[in-house]
Amino acid sequence: MNVELDPIHFRQVLGQYPTGVAIVTAVSRSGEPIGMTVGSFSSVSLDPPLVAFMPDKNSTSWRALQDSGDRFCVNLLGADQENICRSVAVRKENKFADIAWRKSPQGSPLIVDSVAYIDCTIEAVHDVGDHNIVIGRVQDLAVENASYPLLFFRGGYGSFRPLSLAARDIDLLDQLRLIDFARPHMDELAHHFDSEVTVTTLLNDELVLAAAAGRARHQIVPRQVGQRERFRAPLGTVYAAWGEPALRERWIENSGQSATPEQIEEYRQIPDRVRDRGVAVSLVRKSPAPDGVSPARGAEAWYNPESLDGLEGFELRSVSAPVFDARGRVAFALTLWGTRGGPAARATVEEYIYRLLEACEAATKAVGEMTNRDIR
Ligand SMILES: Cc1cc2nc3c(=O)[nH]c(=O)nc-3n(C[C@H](O)[C@H](O)[C@H](O)COP(=O)(O)O)c2cc1C
Repeated sequence: MNVELDPIHFRQVLGQYPTGVAIVTAVSRSGEPIGMTVGSFSSVSLDPPLVAFMPDKNSTSWRALQDSGDRFCVNLLGADQENICRSVAVRKENKFADIAWRKSPQGSPLIVDSVAYIDCTIEAVHDVGDHNIVIGRVQDLAVENASYPLLFFRGGYGSFRPLSLAARDIDLLDQLRLIDFARPHMDELAHHFDSEVTVTTLLNDELVLAAAAGRARHQIVPRQVGQRERFRAPLGTVYAAWGEPALRERWIENSGQSATPEQIEEYRQIPDRVRDRGVAVSLVRKSPAPDGVSPARGAEAWYNPESLDGLEGFELRSVSAPVFDARGRVAFALTLWGTRGGPAARATVEEYIYRLLEACEAATKAVGEMTNRDIR
């Protein structure tokens, strides 16, 4: 290699290659959460399960991670977590003061709303030029929030946008035809609240965000058309509430290891509660715990509370309700998104519910008329 290679040129050329962004976290020996932003995270081997990242040998964050012991957790950041990326990438004390986190299964900080986490133990540290290559053995991993990842490219941040529908989206075409009949009602609803209305369909155990109207003024949850999530409690409640018992069971089963026994007990109550109410309601805590201590898992989001009283401290995240086809099955679910800011007062939530149900009823009628015409 050319020994006089210009570092700026080197960075400029390699900056043409985009990377994801991850925060590697651990707990220091004195019990503090510590972390480092890396773009060099990569999967390495399936058998045995190994991953890697490459810290600068001079990084104080890396030194702190090394001193903390042999456990670390890789948090893959989502597109709306640029602020977390930036605040961890600076040299400062107490980087986690304003970041909501809870403990990963191994006890490292797991940043709330990350796309996924990978709990590791250090398998090997290789000495390579001015960096180390840290090989981690995967001990536990899960997708937390199947939103799009944060990407780093040419010194700036962005997000992934699919250029085309995937082959499997062909299944969606029939659904999209039906959804078109709900469009005017979605537009009107989105306009009324100056917010966003999205459509979710259930295809082969996947919830697909199939269409959107209006605009998300403040994205509480990042969402893009085409986004898919596994059908699992507490997501896609509308399908569990109005579906066959077997579908309800799958909804709970699919929540799998990420749910505690108490959560599973709660999930069993939810479909009937949602069906009685006519809508699924989700709320989100207004801000992370004030002292920066991680709230307990699930404490940030609150799904389908028994009563709509006593919602102070929360804001409305979304209300969802079904649109039925001519045979009375759920054709798709409409979700009206809340806007960030105000408290989730009962009257506000009821106004959202009332308007959403009105739109769903009109959409059900339109979809019914159209499918009846098709059947004839
Ligand atoms: C998007 C992004 C990716 C980064 N990737 C790496 C990396 O892979 N390895 C590394 O050593 N530093 C990386 N950094 C720099 C560190 O996060 C951090 O800024 C640096 O470690 C701060 O110095 P300190 O560790 O001495 O506090 C990255 C920073 C950003 C913003």
